[in-house]
Amino acid sequence: MKMKITPNKIVGSDRIALSFNDVGKGYTSDSGTQVAALQNINLQIDHGQFVTLVGATGCGKTTLLNLAAGIDTPAIGAISLAEDICPKRDVAYVFQHYTLLPWLKVEHNVAFGLKMRGISRKQRINASGDLLEQVGLKGYEKAWPHELSGGMRQRAAIAQALAINPKLLLMDEPFGALDSSTRRDLQTMLGNLHRDRKMTILFVTHSIDEALILGDRVIVFSEQPGRILEDHKIFLPRPRMRSDDAFTRQLLHIYGLLAETHP
Ligand SMILES: Nc1ncnc2c1ncn2[C@@H]1O[C@H](COP(=O)(O)OP(=O)(O)OP(=O)(O)O)[C@@H](O)[C@H]1O
Ligand SMILES: [Mg+2]
Repeated sequence: MKMKITPNKIVGSDRIALSFNDVGKGYTSDSGTQVAALQNINLQIDHGQFVTLVGATGCGKTTLLNLAAGIDTPAIGAISLAEDICPKRDVAYVFQHYTLLPWLKVEHNVAFGLKMRGISRKQRINASGDLLEQVGLKGYEKAWPHELSGGMRQRAAIAQALAINPKLLLMDEPFGALDSSTRRDLQTMLGNLHRDRKMTILFVTHSIDEALILGDRVIVFSEQPGRILEDHKIFLPRPRMRSDDAFTRQLLHIYGLLAETHP
């Protein structure tokens, strides 16, 4: 089969959708200790870019997504979302500890955001069915969340986020609980959606391979407190080839950067 090679979207991207300007964030733990989660974060994300975030556990990745979503506020610095191109209602978030509403069947969970927008019941259920098929959950429309495995719930949460056709999609380790074959299928699905829709994505992963397969840029964080070690632009055509020497070189480079912060 002939594969379609698409040029990298970094070239020619236009407006900034989201920017972090000198952002810092800390927490006070229950025992009263101060925890610095993020320091000196400067990051400009163009509308339509796919940005992946990698770094050790506790380096502030979830904190950064929470700040982007506006569900947490920075201690210092500022975050701005270009609301003319990305209204707040068009921001979707797949949480690290993904949640479905336990009192709604899977299809209604996926359709929930559409109900809030006044979309008719028939259209909601059709859209929900299509998305459930795309994430490999065809046949589970009428199931209750508690009847699904962890990986299936994760897939339903992804379908739920995609249902509103988001302009900014925040995803916190969304494929973490999936087997490798399903993970690759969903990587392809997300890559295709990103290619076909104008959507900015911030995607946290512990897999450098996944970060390089999907992203236009990989933001590499230091250990806690999280600072940006490198803003790595990926100038490789899509679909990315794991067998490509340049892919392997970049993989090893990022492994090297992360290893330096975990001596
Ligand atoms: N609500 C909170 N109260 C106190 N400390 C917090 C809170 N949220 C996060 N932290 C601390 O801030 C730091 C960053 O946490 P965060 O969850 O952002 O890390 P992470 O990079 O997402 O880690 P992981 O890869 O394990 O998900 C950690 O030290 C964490 O303990
Ligand atoms: Mg996290």
